[in-house]
Amino acid sequence: KLPSRVRLVDVGPRDGLQNEKQPVPAAVKIALVQRLQDAGLKDIEVTSFVSPKWVPQMADAAEVMAGIRRQPGVRYSVLTPNMKGFEAALPFKPDEVVVFGAASEAFSQRNINCSIAESIERFAPVVAAARGHGIHVRGVISCTVGCPYEGEIAPERVEMVARLMKGIGVQHCGVADTIGVGTPLKVQRALEAALQHFGIDDVSGHFHDTYGMALANTLAALEMGVWQYDTSSAGLGGCPYAKGATGNVATEDVVYMLQGMGIETGIDFDKLVDAGAYISEFLQRKPNSRAATAILAR
Ligand code: HMG
Ligand code: MG
Repeated sequence: KLPSRVRLVDVGPRDGLQNEKQPVPAAVKIALVQRLQDAGLKDIEVTSFVSPKWVPQMADAAEVMAGIRRQPGVRYSVLTPNMKGFEAALPFKPDEVVVFGAASEAFSQRNINCSIAESIERFAPVVAAARGHGIHVRGVISCTVGCPYEGEIAPERVEMVARLMKGIGVQHCGVADTIGVGTPLKVQRALEAALQHFGIDDVSGHFHDTYGMALANTLAALEMGVWQYDTSSAGLGGCPYAKGATGNVATEDVVYMLQGMGIETGIDFDKLVDAGAYISEFLQRKPNSRAATAILAR
């Protein structure tokens, strides 16, 4: 049942950098996007059109979108939690917009300042407007396994949010382990909950690596036939409203594993390592990827 091909969305420029304390100039973000597309990434999550008071690092969303040199065949996505964000993003013609909710009420409140039910009400016009413009809509559900405020999250919660998202016309469901507490069987249950409402081609995994479980969780998801994943160059990142949560699983580590399994990604591993080394060097830290560290030490 293992897929023969996998699509990776590099969320490094967005999830990876959103929580970064030091200023990262738009030019560096643009250069990272360029390096990722040069490495063969076909999906790049570029930025977020969110409140700059909430997430100052993403305040340059418009500048970054205006600055990237778009390559045909690459899908550029941006986060748009409400109509204000969507309207700000629209002039830049994103290929995909992302609405992001949570399977936990407390996390929804902390992250987007509203309840789960209210979030669906805010997303509905965004989804309608995006689809009216022919823009693909991805939904992401945070805290599908555990929540920093509520603890363990039952799969039924995930099923409910997936159903609500499907009901307003969201086309794809990302299942996120925001704080990286998931283990393979729990992650499979969360994915199964989303698969009750979305087909196998419209579900993806978004695994943070806080407890070092993200590769194992990816393999568990692959065994279910899930073939799309959000990963982050150099393992950058973490959510500002999930204290202590570290970055997404490193794109380099996932590509290394997939290549070793004979699963196609279309990504040039060496160029990918270079992209991660570029941003890590800017941030003055080592890539948070075992595979990249091994290659760079050769
Ligand atoms: P709110 O305060 O409820 O919104 O925030 P509001 O409509 O009441 O507006 C309040 C102020 O924000 C107003 O400005 C608006 O103009 C402004 P003021 O009059 O006070 O000067 N505003 C905006 N500004 C720019 N862009 C916008 C926007 N909307 C309102 N789109 C809101 C609601 C969602 C905006 C806020 O809570 C927010 O920005 N939160 C940040 C959420 C975020 O970016 N979190 C990190 C990304 S999610 C994540 O990392 C998880 C994920 O990776 C999956 C996983 O791992 O779980 C996706
Ligand atoms: Mg995330």
